[in-house]
Amino acid sequence: MPDTTRRVHASTVGQLALELPSALPVLALEADWKDQTRLWGHSLHPMCSYLASFPAAMAHAFIARYSRPGDVVLDPFSGRGTAPVQAAAEGRIGVGNDLNPLAHVLTAAKLDPATAVEARTRLLALRLGWLADADAWTAIGRQAGLRPGHPSAFIPRAGSGGGPDARDEALPSEVAVAFHAVTLGQVAHLRSRLQLDDRVDRFLAAALAGILHGKTPAYLSTVMPNTFSMAPRYVRAFVERTGYEPPERDAFGSLGAKLDRLYRQPLPNTTGIALLGDARTAGLRVRQALRERGMGDRARLVVTSPPYLRVLKYGYYNWLRTWLLGFDANAIDASLDQAHQPEAYIGFLREVLADLRPALTDDGIAVLVIGDVEMDRGKPSTAGLGLAERVWEEAAYPAGFRLAGLVRDDVAANRKMTRLWGVEAGQATKTDVILVLGATEAGRRRALAAADVPVDWTWPQTRLRAL
Ligand SMILES: C[S@@+](CC[C@H](N)C(=O)[O-])C[C@H]1O[C@@H](n2cnc3c(N)ncnc32)[C@H](O)[C@@H]1O
Repeated sequence: MPDTTRRVHASTVGQLALELPSALPVLALEADWKDQTRLWGHSLHPMCSYLASFPAAMAHAFIARYSRPGDVVLDPFSGRGTAPVQAAAEGRIGVGNDLNPLAHVLTAAKLDPATAVEARTRLLALRLGWLADADAWTAIGRQAGLRPGHPSAFIPRAGSGGGPDARDEALPSEVAVAFHAVTLGQVAHLRSRLQLDDRVDRFLAAALAGILHGKTPAYLSTVMPNTFSMAPRYVRAFVERTGYEPPERDAFGSLGAKLDRLYRQPLPNTTGIALLGDARTAGLRVRQALRERGMGDRARLVVTSPPYLRVLKYGYYNWLRTWLLGFDANAIDASLDQAHQPEAYIGFLREVLADLRPALTDDGIAVLVIGDVEMDRGKPSTAGLGLAERVWEEAAYPAGFRLAGLVRDDVAANRKMTRLWGVEAGQATKTDVILVLGATEAGRRRALAAADVPVDWTWPQTRLRAL
C-alpha cells in the first residue's frame, strides 16, 4: 500500500481542508487561481464555451510552478484546450489530446491559430462568396422555416464546398427554427465552405461555433444559452409555444467582431500540438508526434481533468455546434461513454496513467483535477475525496507515480458552469480535488519544492518566468 499518512503543511489550505477527512497528505500549494477572474488568461481561451472546462488561471498556477519555457505541457483530456493553450501563451510547448472531435477542433484552432490577417482575409473571401449567391442561400433559409424537411430546404454537407444548389442533406427543423432566414443561409454557406483540416478555416469554424447561440447580440441565435444546447425537442416546443422570432444577425459581421475579441492579445509565439484519440493511448501518440517534429518526446508537466464520474453528454449538449462542424452528436457520446461507475472509472484511469507515465520526464509532474467534493446543505460530502484516494491508490500508485499531495480548490458555486443545471446545483459549494503526482521520486520532490513558489498573476505577462 502507498504511504498516504503524512500531511504536508496542512494549515496553509484553510479551514475546510482541515474539516474534511482524508488519508492523503495535503500539499502546501495555495489555490490562488480562485482569486482571479474567470476570464483571466489569454484572449483565445473563451473562443467557444465548453462544458466542465477549468479556468486558465488554474492551469497557470501549475504551469508557472512546475514548468519552464520550452518544456512540453500535456493535457490528455484537453477539452477546449485550456491547459495547452495557456502553456503555449507562456512559452511552453502545449500538447492537447481528446477523443471528442469538437474538443479536438477547439484545441487545434487555438494551438495552431490563424493569424489575424489570414483570418480576416479568408472571412472577406467567404463574405464575397456568399454575396454572389445571397438570394439563393436566403431562399433556402426561408424554405427551411416554411417547409421543414422539404427538399427545397436541403443544404450541402459540412465541408463539402457545395453551393446553394447542392442539396445533400435535410436541414433539421430544430436548426431551421433557431435562426433568421438570412442568418441561416449565411451559416449554411460557411458550414459548406469551411474545411476543418485547413488551419485558417478551422480557426474560423471554431470561432463560429463559439458565437452560434447565446443570449446577447453577439450571438447568431438567441434561442438557447451559450454554454450548452437545449434539447432539440425543447427548442421546437419553445418556438411553437412562444412564437419565437429569431433576430436577423449578419454572421460575417458577428464573426468579424468575434475575431477582434480573440486577437485582443498577441498570439502565442509557440505553436502547439492537438491530437485526436483515446487518452488511454495518448502517451504513445504524444511521443510520436513530438518526435516527428524533432522535439524532446517527453512532457515535464501534465495538467488535466479527466471526464468526471457523472454523466456529461458532450455530443448531445453541443448538438448545434456538432451539426455546424459536421459531427454526429450521438457517435461522440457513444465513443466517450466508458466510465460512469466508480469501478470502471478507476480502471479507465489506471490505463490512462500507466500509458502516460513513460511519456513524462523523470522529474515530471502530473496534476489531476479529479472532481469535486459537494457541500450538501452546509455539510461536506466526502465522495470526491474518497474518489481521489481511490484514484491514487488504485490507479496512480500501481502505474508507478509518487504522491506529492492533494490540493483543494474551494470554488464558489456561482462561478461554476454547473449552476446552469438548476437551483439545486447552484446551492451546492464545489471543491475541486486535485492530485499532484511525481512521475518518479524526483518528480515528487520537485512538486513539493515548488509548491509554495509565489506565482506572478500579471496578465498579459510582461516577461516569461523561468523558475
Ligand atoms: C472535464 S473535460 C476537460 C476539460 C478541459 N480541462 C478544458 O478546460 O476544457 C474532460 C474531457 O475528456 C474527454 N474525454 C472523455 N473520454 C475520453 C477518452 N477516452 N479519451 C480522451 N478524451 C476523453 C471529453 O471529451 C472532455 O473533453
